[in-house]
Amino acid sequence: MMPIHIQKKWRLGLSIALWLVGLHLICAHNDKSPTALSIKEGSDDHSKGEETLLEDEDSEDLEVFRPTDKWQTFKPGQAVPAGSHVRLNLQTGQREVKMGEAEGLKYWRDGNRQGMMNTHNPSFTAKELKEALKKFKEGMDDPVETKQDKDAVRAQFRPIEELKKDMEALDMLMETDVQAMRRLLNQFNNTNSTTEEKVTALLELEYLVHQVDNGQNLVSMGGMQLVIHALNSTDIHLQMSAAFVLGSAVSSNPSVQVEAIEGGALQKLLTLLATPRPTMVKKKVLFAVASLLRHFPFAQSHFLKLGGVQVLSELFQTPGAESLRVRIITVLYDMIIEKELISQVGMDLTSDSSHQERLRQYAEVSLLPVLVEQGWCSLVPELLASPEHDCREKALRTLLAMMAQCQTQYKQNPALTASLSELQKQYQELVLTEQDLGEQDGYFGEILALVDSMVIKMQLV
Ligand SMILES: *[C@@H]1O[C@H](CO)[C@@H](O)[C@H](O)[C@H]1NC(C)=O
Ligand SMILES: *[C@@H]1O[C@H](CO)[C@@H](O)[C@H](O)[C@H]1NC(C)=O
Ligand SMILES: *[C@@H]1O[C@H](CO)[C@@H](O)[C@H](O)[C@H]1NC(C)=O
Repeated sequence: MMPIHIQKKWRLGLSIALWLVGLHLICAHNDKSPTALSIKEGSDDHSKGEETLLEDEDSEDLEVFRPTDKWQTFKPGQAVPAGSHVRLNLQTGQREVKMGEAEGLKYWRDGNRQGMMNTHNPSFTAKELKEALKKFKEGMDDPVETKQDKDAVRAQFRPIEELKKDMEALDMLMETDVQAMRRLLNQFNNTNSTTEEKVTALLELEYLVHQVDNGQNLVSMGGMQLVIHALNSTDIHLQMSAAFVLGSAVSSNPSVQVEAIEGGALQKLLTLLATPRPTMVKKKVLFAVASLLRHFPFAQSHFLKLGGVQVLSELFQTPGAESLRVRIITVLYDMIIEKELISQVGMDLTSDSSHQERLRQYAEVSLLPVLVEQGWCSLVPELLASPEHDCREKALRTLLAMMAQCQTQYKQNPALTASLSELQKQYQELVLTEQDLGEQDGYFGEILALVDSMVIKMQLV
């Protein structure tokens, strides 16, 4: 349970630092109210004198205005947190404030504590904390007019030092990502660990490997091999979590993608897809396959050589696996479109040698002929029967992407023609509803355009 412990410690450090940042941001913009410092943290070991001072002060002296995303009027006596937008209403002469859009920070007050939280992300990154500290320091450099103000600023000084210490402590804790990964890998690799402990270790690793550096750490620590090996596990929770870690580690991380391919991950993933497994396992495996193939023509060629399209065709037609169909089609569609976009970009980059190499690599990925061979010209139309708009949209886009190869088969498919005219009617009506609600370029309009495009292109010679 060491990782949990570390996380708790980290969270504690973080919340202390956050609390201080919040406090200081408020102070920094409230020159006349050093009483903001009356807010204290119970667990801190302030000296006796300071504690008395802190307790004696009335925290209600400072009225902090918490901006929302709407402009609101605030009174001259009120303090406004840093990062807020403040303006003067020329008609009323009143000052108005709203929350800074970029920050997405929410300010809170609870008794005599106050602080802020980031509403975009559940936690602050060390970078955001440093930014906050920097902003506050910049605020400190403002010219100070009176002695009272100077005292106010001086009164704020010690806590800044404390804040810095917290930042350092936080930095030290931040540097333990590698240590945390080592511990998790040990927990996972330890024969004494229960399956549950191993799964927990994998899920915590999954959280860490989203970061590019940590993905690479996973490789250098020998974790990639452990994870690939775990795909072979007999326990479905281990299989599933291993696929999840793998997928997250390779996402947008080319060097890790290469390592995973070289480590034989694709073969193992395809085996999992080709053999009877619970749908929840296959979902994670499909995620890992998609992440592994993305922007990686070598892996895509490999996928074709290993019979990946056939594996997906069989899975697509497996009774009970209907919920996987959209995911499967997405993997294929993304590959088709990726290659198409690369060759379009080629027009302006014909002299760039790296681009030439990329084109060469994608030229080796010959997906469309394999899709035709494996029956996808008639499999994709089946998805149009889905009641879900998203699924129909994906199907229509894929049908259009395969038009050149599949046109003859499309034309000979009476079910497809029937589906298209049915969808055309449905979406024409839905578009009217959308327009009644004032939406001109709505989602249904987008789908209708795809249906229309299909109908027109199928009528071409
Ligand atoms: C597993 O547990 C046994 C007995 O508690 C202990 O002797 C051994 O060192 C442990 N192995 C590992 C790898 O921690
Ligand atoms: C996993 O454990 C084995 C022995 O139990 C060890 O040889 C191997 O280095 C460990 N791998 C990692 C990545 O910790
Ligand atoms: C993993 O699974 C494959 C196919 O199921 C099998 O051939 C291989 O021996 C297994 N490897 C290990 C290390 O269990």
